[in-house]
Amino acid sequence: MGCDHPPARVPRVETRTDCVQVTWPDGHAGRFPHFWLRENCPCPQCTHPEAWERIVDFMTIPLNVRPDAVEADAVGLRLTWPSGDVPCDGTRYSWDWLDSHRLERDARLARKRRIRGWTGSTISKDSLAVPYDAVMVGDDDLERLLAHVDSAGLGFVVGVPTDRLVVTEIAERIAFVEESHFGRHFDVVSKVDPENLAYTPNALQPHNDLPSRQHLPGVQLLHCRRNDVAGGDNVFVDGIAVACRLREQNPAAFDLLSRRPVMFRSVAADWEIANRATIIAVDEDGDVVGTRVHPALLGPVDIEPDEQPAFYSAHRELLSIALEAEMQFSFRFEEGDCVIFDNARILHARTAFDATTGYRHLQGCYVGRDDLKSRLQLLRRRGTEYRIR
Ligand code: OGA
Ligand code: ZN
Repeated sequence: MGCDHPPARVPRVETRTDCVQVTWPDGHAGRFPHFWLRENCPCPQCTHPEAWERIVDFMTIPLNVRPDAVEADAVGLRLTWPSGDVPCDGTRYSWDWLDSHRLERDARLARKRRIRGWTGSTISKDSLAVPYDAVMVGDDDLERLLAHVDSAGLGFVVGVPTDRLVVTEIAERIAFVEESHFGRHFDVVSKVDPENLAYTPNALQPHNDLPSRQHLPGVQLLHCRRNDVAGGDNVFVDGIAVACRLREQNPAAFDLLSRRPVMFRSVAADWEIANRATIIAVDEDGDVVGTRVHPALLGPVDIEPDEQPAFYSAHRELLSIALEAEMQFSFRFEEGDCVIFDNARILHARTAFDATTGYRHLQGCYVGRDDLKSRLQLLRRRGTEYRIR
C-alpha cells in the first residue's frame, strides 16, 4: 500500500520545502517541520528503547534536513532520511500521535487544560472524600482521590487514624514528601514561641503556604488529630477563580498583580528566606495558573513609591474577593480528616480559636505537584501499553 493510492481513511500527505502537511479525512490539518520530524524520531537509533529518552544528538542534524522519502499508510507516516553521519532506522509516527501533537496554536489551545475555578457552593466535602482504608490499599480509590485534587484542587481523606503520625504515610502513598524549612512534617498547634502565625490561636487570612520560597510547595496535606476548641474553622477558596474575578472587575489591578514581583519573607531563629514573585501567576496565554497570596509574609513591598497606592488597592481588592462568602467553601476539621490541596491554586484560611477551650492539633506536610500528577497519570494508564511516540 503506497501513498499513490491510499485507502480513504488515510490522511492526505503533502511534502513542502520545510515541512510535511497532513490533512485528516475530516479536513483538519497540521504542518510538521522536517527538523521536528527528524528530531523526534522514535526508532531505537534515535530514542533509547528502554530509557525512552532521545539519543540522537540534535546538534548533528542539519537544520535544513529534508526526508528522502515520505510515505503514508493506514498506520501512519513513514519517513526516510538521507544516509549520513546521523544513523536512523527510519521514522514512523502513528496518525493519532501526530494528531495529538499538532503544532498550530489553535491545536495547542484546544489540547490545553484550562482550569475553571470554583465558587464555594459547588464544593462539598462528601463529593471529594475518599476513606483512608480504601486509599491506602486500593488503586482505584487512590486514583479517585488524586483526580479530585487534580480537578477541584482539593480532596479529603476521611477516617484517618488519629493515634499517630499518618500524614506522611498518606503523602508517601501518593509520592514523596517534599521537605521545607518546617521539616518533613509540621505540627500546627498553638504554642509558646511560635515560629509562624499558624502556631498561634490567631486567625489566618486566605493564603498560599510558603510564598517566601522560590519553589512554592506543590500540594499540602493537613491531617486533623484533634479539634475540640471553640473556633478554628477553615475556609478554602479557589485562588484561580479569585484572580479571574479580579481580572473581570478591574483589569488594571489584575495586570499590576500579575506583572510586578513583590517581596515575601520568612524570618525565624533557624531560617531567613526571601523571594520576589508576582502575586498572580499567568502563563504565556494569559491564563491564571496560580497565586502567591500571604498577607502575613508579604513585604516590605519593594515597588516604587508612585506605584504603592495602586498596588495596595489591587491587593486589597484581590483579598476582598477571596473573603466574599460566595467564593468560600467553609469547613470544620473533624478528627481523622485529612485535606489535600494544590497550594498554588487553593487559598486556605482559619478563624481564630480559643486555646483555653480545648486542643487543636493538625499535622501537615507537602507532596510535589509533579509527582502527584505523575502518580495520577500512571494510575490512569494502568492496563494500557504506553509508548512515548
Ligand atoms: C498552616 C495553616 C491552617 C489551620 O499551617 O499552614 O494554614 O487550620 N493552618 O491551622
Ligand atoms: Zn497555611
